[in-house]
Amino acid sequence: MLKMILLVLLAAGLLGGAVGGIHLLRVAQRNKKEMAPFQAAPIRYTANLGKTLIIYYSWSGHTQDIAQRIQKYTQADLYRIELEKPLSFTPWVYLTLKRQLSTGNYPALQKPLPDISAYDTLFVGSPIWWYTAATPVLQFLREMDFKNKKVVPFSTQGSNYGTFFEDFAARAQNARLLKGESFNNLGPQYDNAVENKIIAWLNSLS
Ligand SMILES: Cc1cc2nc3c(=O)[nH]c(=O)nc-3n(C[C@H](O)[C@H](O)[C@H](O)COP(=O)(O)O)c2cc1C
Repeated sequence: MLKMILLVLLAAGLLGGAVGGIHLLRVAQRNKKEMAPFQAAPIRYTANLGKTLIIYYSWSGHTQDIAQRIQKYTQADLYRIELEKPLSFTPWVYLTLKRQLSTGNYPALQKPLPDISAYDTLFVGSPIWWYTAATPVLQFLREMDFKNKKVVPFSTQGSNYGTFFEDFAARAQNARLLKGESFNNLGPQYDNAVENKIIAWLNSLS
């Protein structure tokens, strides 16, 4: 009986590994195809977005990385959304965050929120959690009135941003939304291509 259970577990493990491997291969192929147009020579930054603020939440650093790259070109100010009680990594954290999303019980944010009155353009960056915006960003959107400012959403994710842009648009109060962009987490071999992707996107905004 024990042998049988071990065999079933082994088979399940092998199957899981194979499915995971195929998924990773497909994501890698998709990334390669998506980034191919940005692999050429560096693009020149020509945008003028006025006085700009980049607002973002980042738990493990990817969204912060993109925010800082955007800042390099736009000379924007940065505002990092912080939680009153910072998120700690536990084995059940994914489920906790999923429950926050399904109940609308989002975490409390550190104050003050940024004063946006002096800015022409606001970028808002979020990690993707369960195919939508991270709950700290959803909480931020709950509390912020964009007062008819130009707002540009961006996301970072493993491979699938789900309904992020629709969900963002539905919640960004009084925003004049400009074209957002999404960034899959990529290895260093894509660094230059990511840079080009950011510049092409920024240029398209003004
Ligand atoms: C709770 C949770 C849920 C996630 N859900 C998704 C998802 O639905 N799709 C996806 O492509 N990546 C998903 N990810 C991966 C993150 O979106 C990705 O690693 C992101 O770049 C993290 O940003 P950060 O480093 O700024 O926190 C998830 C990560 C976490 C922690």
